[in-house]
Amino acid sequence: MVLGTVPPHYLARYCLRGKGPQAGTFLVDRRLRERVDFRQINLNRPLPQLPTFYLIMLRNLLIYFDRTTRQEVVRRVLERLEPGGYLMIGHSESLHELGVAELVQLAPAIFRKSLPGSGADVRLISADEEDTPGHRGREGRA
Ligand SMILES: C[S@@+](CC[C@H](N)C(=O)[O-])C[C@H]1O[C@@H](n2cnc3c(N)ncnc32)[C@H](O)[C@@H]1O
Repeated sequence: MVLGTVPPHYLARYCLRGKGPQAGTFLVDRRLRERVDFRQINLNRPLPQLPTFYLIMLRNLLIYFDRTTRQEVVRRVLERLEPGGYLMIGHSESLHELGVAELVQLAPAIFRKSLPGSGADVRLISADEEDTPGHRGREGRA
């Protein structure tokens, strides 16, 4: 990790600077480490009991699945994403074909889940919809 990209108040609050033989390294504070929960979960099955998240990274995972499975996996994962939270996928992946109405695309591989009542003004449409009469472009107003 490039520490220069971490805001100084986070460094001060959550990182310990290495000294002596550890000089040049850093350790994430125990309070933060203890909040991390590592689990192996099959996203192709109903998810176990999980909290909701502000950020979900699915980089280079969807490439393994056919369209129907991709749709199911994204639907499952979105249920665990907080409104206003971010979903990141790989640069070679796309959600366009999946028709996920509640995701706003911010950058090629970065999406944000709409807040309730905010009225998503960007809607991802499926390739099939592109030829329908009245279609207003790949990211038309919903
Ligand atoms: C190409 S690797 C990408 C790893 C990492 N996200 C990255 O971008 O470097 C694909 C990952 O998807 C995981 N994966 C494949 N099928 C999965 C499934 N059904 N549920 C959860 N993870 C899965 C694999 O274990 C592997 O870690």
